[in-house]
Amino acid sequence: MVAIKVNGTTHQVDAPADTPLLWVIREHLELTGTKYGCGIAQCGACTVHVNGEPTRACVTPLSAVADAEITTIEGLSKDRSHPVQKAWIAEQVPQCGFCQSGQILAAAALLKKTPKPTDAEIDAAMTNICRCGTYQRIRKAIHRVANGAA
Ligand code: FES
Ligand code: FES
Repeated sequence: MVAIKVNGTTHQVDAPADTPLLWVIREHLELTGTKYGCGIAQCGACTVHVNGEPTRACVTPLSAVADAEITTIEGLSKDRSHPVQKAWIAEQVPQCGFCQSGQILAAAALLKKTPKPTDAEIDAAMTNICRCGTYQRIRKAIHRVANGAA
């Protein structure tokens, strides 16, 4: 058993210590907003916050997060009221939506550290891949939050 804290709740997880955090979140906790894309830390679809840091859950073993505060898309807000979620809706960012939980978590972490990021800072921080090519709208939505318009 490993105890992990996700979205403010501690769970006892019966899984080997090297189980990827992504599987624990999706299979054990049934929080399916966090997606599996590549499984090799390349695409960012599995991004969650671990102690506020955007983290690729597909390559993060359960043992590495035993004492951490983990936040998934379900825990960002209860009612889609997080400024990043509001901006995403206002700018109609998602297309198929598959990458967007990870994009939103990455953007939320960026804006917490850098409330008014430049385009270069956005590009450096937002390494998540979107196969639908929503990058321009993502950038617009991040600027919307930075300008307080979300
Ligand atoms: S599924 Fe984790 S980075 Fe692609
Ligand atoms: S919205 Fe389809 S992959 Fe990003």
